[in-house]
Amino acid sequence: MRLQNKVAIVTGGAKGLGQAMSELFAKHGAKVIAVDMMDLTYSHPDVEFYKLNVANSDDVAKFGEYVFTKYGKADILVNNAGITRDAMTRKMTDEQFDLVISVNLKGVFNMTRVFGPKMEEAGYGSIINISSVVGVYGNIGQANYAASKAGVIGMTKSWAKEFARKGANVRCNAIAPGYIMTDMMKTVPEDLLKKFAELTMLKRLGQPHEIADAALYLASDEASYVTGQVLEVNGGMRL
Ligand SMILES: NC(=O)c1ccc[n+]([C@@H]2O[C@H](COP(=O)([O-])OP(=O)(O)OC[C@H]3O[C@@H](n4cnc5c(N)ncnc54)[C@H](O)[C@@H]3O)[C@@H](O)[C@H]2O)c1
Repeated sequence: MRLQNKVAIVTGGAKGLGQAMSELFAKHGAKVIAVDMMDLTYSHPDVEFYKLNVANSDDVAKFGEYVFTKYGKADILVNNAGITRDAMTRKMTDEQFDLVISVNLKGVFNMTRVFGPKMEEAGYGSIINISSVVGVYGNIGQANYAASKAGVIGMTKSWAKEFARKGANVRCNAIAPGYIMTDMMKTVPEDLLKKFAELTMLKRLGQPHEIADAALYLASDEASYVTGQVLEVNGGMRL
């Protein structure tokens, strides 16, 4: 029970990595609020669903009021909601670029603008931003996604400094997953997935629980001296 009595928010918590993290955090004693635009694909007595588009800053502010009225605090924030709209750069539309930035980058900012300062006031908190191997190394056909996920790393390092500057025990880290078998991978052709597996040292793709285990570590007090870091959980992949 590594998260006993903690209140944890997981964006994009309806399925995939968000589901794995929500269920694992709940198993370790946290009260989890899974935020998503779609309904949860599972049910768990300690995972509450809240419908929210993280790209809408007014709705995120209302969600903050809801959380602090109901729970009085937020100990853990996982900014996990994310999307792809892939295209080669010469063919990428304004809409594809802007949508990915608005969810993957601005959505992370919207959530942290509400919860980061409250954690600072409370003197305690762990923020975990889900970046990507693509944000670290770049990828063909994903300039928008790479920009958003590299931007998340910049915000992570800024917030690690900003929220701790007055001595609060608030940590902020990023996880950069490699290719993990979730719905997001359904648009990637089978031969490319095989190629991605070959690019790892372990010669396989990852499973959602392997990201959830890393998030549990960063969320818990076992990572009490870890902040401003990017934890690459990718089987030793180099793109
Ligand atoms: N699966 C991978 O291989 C992989 C690799 C690296 C990084 N990531 C990142 O991990 C995160 C989770 O990915 P996943 O594989 O579980 O994808 P997924 O598509 O299975 O789940 C993403 C969830 O985010 C939700 N979501 C999307 N836009 C939202 C919004 N505006 N507001 C609230 N919720 C929203 C979706 O409804 C969905 O439930 C994403 O940020 C993704 O970029 C995934």
